[in-house]
Amino acid sequence: MKNSILKILHKTLENYVSEDEITSQFNISRTELRDHIQTLRDDGYFIEYSPKQGYRLLKTTNLYLPCELQKDLKTDYIGHEIHYFNEVDSTNNVAKELAKDGAVEGTIVIAESQSMGRGRRGKKWISPEGGIWMSIILRPKINPAKAPQLTLVTGVAVAETLKNECGLDVGIKWPNDILVGEKKVCGILTEAQATTKKVEYLIVGIGIDLNVDVKLFPPKLREGATSLKNELEKEIHSAELIQKFLLNFENRYNEFKEDKFPEILKQWRMFSKTIGSYVEVHKRGRTVKGEAVGINKDGILILELEDGSLEKVVSGECIHVKK
Ligand code: BTN
Repeated sequence: MKNSILKILHKTLENYVSEDEITSQFNISRTELRDHIQTLRDDGYFIEYSPKQGYRLLKTTNLYLPCELQKDLKTDYIGHEIHYFNEVDSTNNVAKELAKDGAVEGTIVIAESQSMGRGRRGKKWISPEGGIWMSIILRPKINPAKAPQLTLVTGVAVAETLKNECGLDVGIKWPNDILVGEKKVCGILTEAQATTKKVEYLIVGIGIDLNVDVKLFPPKLREGATSLKNELEKEIHSAELIQKFLLNFENRYNEFKEDKFPEILKQWRMFSKTIGSYVEVHKRGRTVKGEAVGINKDGILILELEDGSLEKVVSGECIHVKK
């Protein structure tokens, strides 16, 4: 009901719709209508009330409101269900709860800011207003061992979106950092709920530093980070960029489900800034150093160590270093 009311308000954006018109259309009482309006306001919508004229939704172009995101969305199922928040602890946490309660594949959680955004390896992820903080709930029928591949699939979808829409020199640092030049602009955190045999659900969390001022980041992070605003020297309209990303993501994810991961890897290789670089990978108290010479069919990084031997790296924190 709340979404149907929102649709009417959105159609008449910035113009009033009378209480009578809405209540008679949905056969609800004025009290019920007021309750729905209050819930929409709690969700972050700016809805004005005039006793004589009724309700109107104010223009909200730079917020990630579901109606803004769904208006021109071209996907078949990704983003058809959106849970929007002004602030949450972490969109991945909210998505997990929704997934436990049975949320459908393609459901999205998006927030203007996160108070406890999480990065990989238990790191904090700074998430002020202006960034895209979003999680997608997925239920692929795959062998759980393939779940980490989804991080690479998502990386390709982000990279192609930023390259095509913003014309930037976008690259991927293994396994999941999206870079502009040498600086990180996006991180991906994939979390799975699975047994050894079956994936119950996967949460893909995507954090893009969009209209964020990196000068406000702590000095340690500032050096290696950038935002689209910093790179383009202007703010970009986020709803459009998210719509394009969701479509790219859906296409890549469908390919992944059709066992076309090798095709996606070809694109990953084209975006890769890691292959051909000298790297250090830190994994559980051990550091391996060498030249990244390739990525195998399962998404595992291959390093050539100084003694000429090859080492497969399944996971770890990868740093590009000068030889
Ligand atoms: C990383 O590079 O370390 C991964 C960062 C992932 C951040 C995103 S923002 C949306 C989602 N919610 C979270 O708490 N984390 C992910």
